Amino acid sequence: MVGQTLRTQVCIIGGGPAGMFLSHVLAASGIDSIVVERQTKAHVLGRIRAGVLEHGTVALLREYGLAERMDREGMVKKGTRIVWHEKDDHFIDTVRWTGKPMMNWGQTQITEDLYAARERDGGVVICEAENVRLHDIAGAPSVTFDLAPGPHTVSCDFIVGCDGFHGPSRGYVPSDLQRNYERVYPFGWLGIMVERPPLPDITYAYHPDGFALASRRNERLSRYYIQVPVTDRVEDWSDDRFWDALMQKFPEPMAAKIETGPSVEKSIAPLRSFVSEPMAWGKLFLAGDAAHIVPPTGAKGLNLAFSDTFYLSRALIAHYGEGDDHYLDTYSDTALRRVWAVESLSWRLTRLLHAFPNEDPFDQQLRQAEYDLLLRSEDVQRALAYEYVGLPFEA
Ligand code: APR
Ligand code: PHB
Repeated sequence: MVGQTLRTQVCIIGGGPAGMFLSHVLAASGIDSIVVERQTKAHVLGRIRAGVLEHGTVALLREYGLAERMDREGMVKKGTRIVWHEKDDHFIDTVRWTGKPMMNWGQTQITEDLYAARERDGGVVICEAENVRLHDIAGAPSVTFDLAPGPHTVSCDFIVGCDGFHGPSRGYVPSDLQRNYERVYPFGWLGIMVERPPLPDITYAYHPDGFALASRRNERLSRYYIQVPVTDRVEDWSDDRFWDALMQKFPEPMAAKIETGPSVEKSIAPLRSFVSEPMAWGKLFLAGDAAHIVPPTGAKGLNLAFSDTFYLSRALIAHYGEGDDHYLDTYSDTALRRVWAVESLSWRLTRLLHAFPNEDPFDQQLRQAEYDLLLRSEDVQRALAYEYVGLPFEA
């Protein structure tokens, strides 16, 4: 048997949050898509990722029928706490300053619900596809891939690259047109999952010895992180060593409330800021980590994936519905305005909350002054809350 030749309107490369949400939203408007994913479904659903949803992301999940478990098991959050070595706490109070809460709900659960929804609705999600290639992007686009019993071809009107930072789609934008911007940080985050009750608030901790974060997935599952040198390996970190390092980063009264226990997951993630422009070329559009990466300090990676797919689904719906290509023609610029604003916030929070090697005393004074201004200025607090809760979508 040779492979199949398939036909669809939109071929989506990548079955992560961006690709699966886009497929789900397009289907709701009667637009046909095929998702081509390299990994197994189990591998995709086994990923542990962030758990803080912007107000706009929560609204999109509710609008598209993906919020039933979230609204039952997730936790509505009024904001996020910052604790600071030998200074007062600050609570980024998004409800007080913007009237909008956020939601603590894991990306893993969102992806589970997306796969379940596509299966329920008869969506075509092809997993374990190898050697994905894109063809004739400026003309009559198609995607080829290998999956037993042979090579397959998907002919389509548009290709959307939702294949993450390491996927191939970004590489099909002509190099003479492409502009890549990157900042690699000299540290990573060592994260663990532990089956213990979490602290009341998601809490970022600044300490001269490094950053720490206390987060949650539910009432019985907590997520903790500490800043580690980028050269460290997971096997360098026993649970005991992790807990000792984490406790030192929090003020004693708060550290005393942290319930430790054996890790059920432990991993180190590098931190980088990355943006690739443009996010569209010919019939190819990029969304999510395929086009940009933010350090996790602002919990924006998943939320940017959702904002990109909101803008792109709106554009494709207008194209197929009214033959209006205004949103398609402006997608890259619109998405990039939000991407760069979020890159800025994520970089500022990363610089504020981490101990950078080779900093001089002047740098350290600037950090203290920035935090002191946040503590005493309601205008600065309002501005931070406005960015952290999620920027409004552009009309
Ligand atoms: N062919 C097909 N699929 C591929 C290929 C390929 N060559 N390369 C990568 N993929 C798949 C990956 O297996 C993954 O499932 O593309 C998907 C990309 O998903 P994500 O990396 O999760 O990116 P995105 O959907 O944009 O979501 C961004 O996910 O990783 C987090 O921190 C990130 O929260 C952010 C969110
Ligand atoms: C998480 O819950 O994993 C989390 C929370 C906040 C962040 C990053 C990750 O900024």
